[in-house]
This record gives sequence, C-alpha cells and structure tokens, in this order.
Amino acid sequence: MTMKALGIETSCDETAVAVVDSEKRILANLVLSQLEHEKFGGVVPEIAARAHLNHIDTLVAEAMQTAGVGFSDLDGIAVTAGPGLIGGVLVGVMTAKAIAAVHGTPLIGVNHLEGHALTVRLTDDVKFPYLLLLVSGGHCQILIVEGVGKYKRIGTTIDDAAGEAFDKTSKLLGLGYPGGPAVEKMAASCGTHDRARKKFPLPKPMVGKPGCDFSFSGLKTAVRRMADALPEEIPQEDLVDICFAFQDVVADILADRMKNAIAIYKDQCPDAHAVVVAGGVAANKALRAMLEKISADRGLRFIAPPMKLCTDNAAMIAWAGMERLQLGMTDAPDFKVHARWPLDPDAPVVQVKSQRV
Ligand code: KG4
Ligand code: ZN
Repeated sequence: MTMKALGIETSCDETAVAVVDSEKRILANLVLSQLEHEKFGGVVPEIAARAHLNHIDTLVAEAMQTAGVGFSDLDGIAVTAGPGLIGGVLVGVMTAKAIAAVHGTPLIGVNHLEGHALTVRLTDDVKFPYLLLLVSGGHCQILIVEGVGKYKRIGTTIDDAAGEAFDKTSKLLGLGYPGGPAVEKMAASCGTHDRARKKFPLPKPMVGKPGCDFSFSGLKTAVRRMADALPEEIPQEDLVDICFAFQDVVADILADRMKNAIAIYKDQCPDAHAVVVAGGVAANKALRAMLEKISADRGLRFIAPPMKLCTDNAAMIAWAGMERLQLGMTDAPDFKVHARWPLDPDAPVVQVKSQRV
C-alpha cells in the first residue's frame, strides 16, 4: 500500500514543508527563503525563529492543498528535530506534534543531516552502502552510509564548513548571501584560468595529508588578505579571477580528501559501488564535475540529487521519515530536540564552530 508522509524543516533559514509518498513521488515541496538574512550577511537566530513561526501554518496548509491530501491521509509526520538553531527547530517540532496529536498520526523526529544523506534514495535507486560527501553551510563530512540510522564518519572539517568558506568569501568580496551561487556565477565567467590561479595563489590546507579531514579557515584568511590588497571598489576582472581561484582550490581540497575516502570505502566495503554528494554546496557544477570524474576514474557510479533537493528542503525530511516509517522507527510524542546531533555518535569529537547545518 502506498504511504504518505508530511515533512517539516525549520532548522536553519528556510521554512519548508513537503509531502512525499512511498513510491518516491514528491507531491508537494515548498520552500520559503528568508531573504532578510541578506541584509545581515548571515542567519540571525531570533529573526529566523520568528519568521518560521509566522509562516509555518500557512505553508503546511498550502503543501497539503498542493499534494491534494488531507491530514487523515497521512501515514506519518516527519520533522527536523536537530541539529540546528534550536528556536527554529522547536517551531517545526511543535507544529508536527500538534498535527500528530489531533489526527493520531505517527511522528518521526528526523536528523537534518540524515535528510541530506538519504535524499539520493528518493531521487534514484541507490543501495547501501554508499560513500557520501555532505557539504553544506554548517557541515563538511564524509560518511559511509551503511543503512537508515547507520553512518560511519570517516572525515570532517576541523574548523569551517565548505559552504561557510563560500559565504565568507562572498561577503568579503561584497557579493552577498548566500555566497555559493554568487561565487559560482562569477567563477563560471572566468575565461583566464591560469592567470587567475597565478594572480591569486591560495593555500590548500590538508591536501596531501593522510585521512579525509578538511580545513578551510586558512583559505578564508588568505582570501581576506588578498581582497584587502585590492582597491576598495574591486575591479570586475579581479572579482572574477579571485572567485575562480577560490572555487578551484576548494575543488582541489575536496578531490584530494575524496580520493582518500574512496580508498577507505573500497577497502571497508566489498560491495562499494557509489559516490553521492549532498548539501547546499552540492549545487555547485564545477564541484560536481570534479566528483564525477574522480568517481568514474575509480569505477564508481556518481550520483548528485537535483539542485533543489541539494539545498535545504522538506522533501528530504519527509523521505527520511518515510524510510524510518517503513522500518517501524517512529518516535514517541514527547521526543526531544537536539542542537547538536552527530550522525555517527562513535566518531571522535572535532571542534565545530558553526551552529549551522
Ligand atoms: O544545505 P544548505 O541549503 O544549508 C545548510 O544546511 O547549510 O547549504 C547552504 C550552503 C550555503 O553555505 C551556500 O553558500 C552553499 O550551500 N551553496 C553553494 C552553492 N549553492 C549553495 N556553494 C557553492 N556553490 C553553489 N552553487
Ligand atoms: Zn542542510
């Protein structure tokens, strides 16, 4: 029998509601971006929580209408229970709990990162175990996805996340927020790759070292130093070149770390078959092309979900909920929220400065 799940995501700056079914159909997928963040150059927790509260009820109603289903047709309600900005998470969780209480629907408290990790099983037929590069504004990790709720983290950032590096570079160059798309657009218009690399020789932290951990803060500092040396009104040509040089170095860092990760994945999993990318940074076409190549060179399939399922959305939460529902992994109505919630609790704790996911 086809099952339907509602998904609610409010852990960061997007208010999102979706409905998916067990046949992998996305019946509704609404995302409301909070553009006020642009003014502040980042996410302000209080503003985000208030905006979620103002919009969530209308967005739920709209998603249900778009999907053409009533609350009594739902087999489960999935909601992000963390990690993330706790005020926002609570808005989503209280909404989900209220609907579930009224209609007697099973609840699933979903880890936002598991939403990103399982998205590819909504869009493609991908079996476990697969190697996942999760690159977003708050996280930069490499995981072996062994099953629903079963993750082995083999690499993580020791300081900033890749998306954060894009956002900070963009801000430094006056290109606005979120930084990834702005920097990518500039970089794509660069027709002088060698000149850009020579003019802006940026460092590649961790490259060549064993293991799969990342570091981006040195890169960010180097961009700042180079930007400071440019005129206040940065000439367009320099903007384009520095964006290209930055993106190129990020691609080199990710490639180096992923090569090591693929070796570990193949070593640990005799049935190694696929490399998957997820998280907002996965929208970047140059990074996708690089990942596609290193996977193909090593005989692995490479899969990246469509762009709008890479950035934060609720279809991924509804789907993670659906996977759990099918395995009977539902939660009690009094489940807790978590500001921090690692996918692999056995992985060593590494200092993560960002609260974003
Ligand atoms: O997954 P996501 O929507 O939210 C978080 O959970 O963080 O990821 C947002 C991040 C931001 O840092 C944004 O700059 C980055 O993903 N991003 C990109 C691109 N689109 C979004 N980074 C590089 N290239 C892009 N095209
Ligand atoms: Zn995310």
